[in-house]
Amino acid sequence: MNKAKRFLFLISMAGLILASCEGPMGPTGADGKDGADGKDINETCKSCHNSNVVLAKSLEYGYSQHFRGTAHDHATMAGCIPCHTHKGFLDVISKNTPATITPNPSNPSRYVNNYAASASALSFPGSINCFTCHSSLHTGYSATEFFPLSTTAAVPMTMWGGAKTINFQKSSGNLCAKCHQPMPVTSSNGALIDYARLTTEPAAKYDMSPVSYRTGVHYGTHGAMAAGVGGIEFGSGYSNSEHVTKASCTSCHMASPTGQAGGHSFNPAGNYNGCNTTNCHSGMSATNPLLTETRNYVSTKLKELASKINAIGNGHDILQKDPSDGNYHGYIDIYDAGANPTGYWNNPGQLSQPFPELTNAQFGAIINYQLIYRDASMGVHNYPYIKKLLDNTIAVF
Ligand code: HEC
Ligand code: HEC
Ligand code: HEC
Ligand code: HEC
Ligand code: HEC
Repeated sequence: MNKAKRFLFLISMAGLILASCEGPMGPTGADGKDGADGKDINETCKSCHNSNVVLAKSLEYGYSQHFRGTAHDHATMAGCIPCHTHKGFLDVISKNTPATITPNPSNPSRYVNNYAASASALSFPGSINCFTCHSSLHTGYSATEFFPLSTTAAVPMTMWGGAKTINFQKSSGNLCAKCHQPMPVTSSNGALIDYARLTTEPAAKYDMSPVSYRTGVHYGTHGAMAAGVGGIEFGSGYSNSEHVTKASCTSCHMASPTGQAGGHSFNPAGNYNGCNTTNCHSGMSATNPLLTETRNYVSTKLKELASKINAIGNGHDILQKDPSDGNYHGYIDIYDAGANPTGYWNNPGQLSQPFPELTNAQFGAIINYQLIYRDASMGVHNYPYIKKLLDNTIAVF
């Protein structure tokens, strides 16, 4: 008996039992037609559920920060989950949620950041998994459903209220940049600050937003730096690396694996398989001068920029030094009862040192420091752009 027949049989049995309680039996119905043969489900399942496909990628994925990281435990609000969770991400994609910041209709003196997930996505939003990037999986159970990826559309930047867009020629980069993009700096009523003034009125006093421990653009600055879009561009002369058109995030981060890097670990460190390909590099390695000189330049200039920002404090750092590695991660060393209780500036427990006044250029410099430090590629993503942003920022104040 095929499945369809067995189903009809069970239904008719149930009918018989019920009918028998009610009165005399009617005549047995005619047999239903046989259903058409289904696809051999087992075969399509096996085309993915085998050790070369699902298991192989899952093993790699087990080493990924997407899998291992715990940031989603803290990023639980509607404005956080689009980049930190499964449901939040698919929600903003399916609704095409705009990256705009607009006046609040019920309170016109305040602004709302529209880039947030719907309330329904807040319940068990889930960590990032195979179905987050491959949303077609299990829709028809066919072997091709790893593609299309969940989104490859151009990414209006939330940092810029949608006014600037990241759009990689190799469009899978847009999937990554949808989450790996900076967040907006807003004033006390929630409005986006006017970044343009940071460069057009560099010497004016910065008064567009309060400055606190966490002021800034958050951590996902990679997409912006890799695309060469969205820095606070002092001066001129900006251009992009060949990586922006010829490579993609996946070329370097998902290259064929070596050790515990590449593939679905998304980790590029020490894996040069993606670099050493036809029409790209040959002989790229950890000791190749092109790489070491790039990284040294950016790390030296970043230190110089941090020192310049810190000098505004006239004897005490503006940026907070992270005790774990001695680096400045881009936090501002302002007292915060919960997050930075030992902060130096504005600390009610110390001889209350008021946080110094900043100029627009100095505030822009702090943003650029965060963009480049947190990008963490030390120039690899887009050397000409990152170098120009650093050089011009250091020169402006
Ligand atoms: C296009 C590839 C593909 C096909 C075809 C496919 N699966 Fe999957 N399946 C996946 C992936 C990827 C996962 C997630 C694995 C992970 O999380 O490590 C998954 C997960 C699962 C899970 C775990 C629960 C879940 O939903 O996460 C079950 C059960 C499952 N598949 C059953 C099936 C069955 C039954 C079929 C055939 C009818 C099938 N799959 C066909 C790719 C596929
Ligand atoms: C749904 C949003 C989302 C998408 C899509 C996404 N990422 Fe991520 N990614 C994150 C988040 C969030 C983290 C940090 C997770 C944590 O630490 O808990 C992260 C972490 C990483 C890390 C590790 C960073 C570190 O500090 O070690 C790399 C590398 C990375 N992603 C690369 C990529 C690449 C390449 C793509 C595209 C193929 C991509 N990501 C797509 C959200 C995303
Ligand atoms: C536009 C996307 C985006 C939004 C919105 C976002 N994040 Fe993130 N966040 C990221 C990415 C990407 C990373 C990982 C960066 C990395 O590891 O290099 C990250 C990292 C983090 C981390 C880990 C930081 C660390 O250094 O370990 C925490 C905690 C975090 N986010 C909390 C939040 C909270 C809370 C919110 C909401 C207020 C939020 N995020 C909103 C993209 C986003
Ligand atoms: C953060 C996004 C992301 C997540 C999460 C993710 N993938 Fe992928 N996956 C991609 C991208 C992007 C590609 C295309 C890679 C390329 O173009 O080189 C891809 C390609 C694939 C492919 C086909 C190409 C290949 O590499 O052989 C398979 C199979 C696959 N993924 C399986 C999985 C499985 C299984 C999981 C869960 C364990 C998973 N993916 C999780 C982004 C993701
Ligand atoms: C040309 C190769 C290349 C391209 C293209 C590229 N990356 Fe990277 N990326 C790197 C390297 C190399 C590092 C530094 C890794 C290290 O040394 O730990 C890095 C660092 C990162 C990190 C921080 C990892 C960490 O350990 O903190 C994230 C996240 C990231 N890239 C995401 C992206 C995203 C998203 C894209 C596309 C928008 C992208 N990258 C494009 C090579 C690349």
